[in-house]
Amino acid sequence: MNVDPLHIIGNYYRPGSAAYDMLVRHGDQVAAKALAVAAHLASDGIDETFLHEAAMLHDIGIFMTNTPSLGCHGDHPYICHGTLGRELLEGRGLDRHALVCERHVGVGLSAGDIQRQKLPLPIRDMRPLTIEEEIICYADKFYSKNDRQNQTARTTFEIVAMLRRYGEPPVQKFQAWVRRFENGGRRPSPSDHTG
Ligand SMILES: [Fe+2]
Repeated sequence: MNVDPLHIIGNYYRPGSAAYDMLVRHGDQVAAKALAVAAHLASDGIDETFLHEAAMLHDIGIFMTNTPSLGCHGDHPYICHGTLGRELLEGRGLDRHALVCERHVGVGLSAGDIQRQKLPLPIRDMRPLTIEEEIICYADKFYSKNDRQNQTARTTFEIVAMLRRYGEPPVQKFQAWVRRFENGGRRPSPSDHTG
């Protein structure tokens, strides 16, 4: 099936609106980072077309959340944007893209995380499983969604500090991704502070 991410986004976001510009800019940034990781891995098994499409669409659910700072005026808490995006894309027959939406929040939420943190989400495993799901979840951590035009990527150091608020397990998972996706398996050194 031919998937045109901007056409799909245009069904839910008015081109030129603050939310549209933010979503497309963020999607472009995450897609570029994801494709750079794929190029670095040089693995035959990565579907780069899908990686680009899904990176562009991973946050499509945010318009249904109540996040006025992003120009989104829906009813749902922000944390629900992943599951909302999944439902939306499944409704369009894009089941594989839909799972990327659900599985990109934080470093991926387990059913236990959802229960312990009493998150307003269905209790099921939402951790990224496929290589494309993992790369997009990873790439997403480098970019916030805001209206700054010349936004630079967060450093891995900043991402680790952000994740540490949720305990050590997400930090360790992210650092394992850094080793796998950036460093060809070597341990990050203290000078590895660029994203
Ligand atoms: Fe994102």
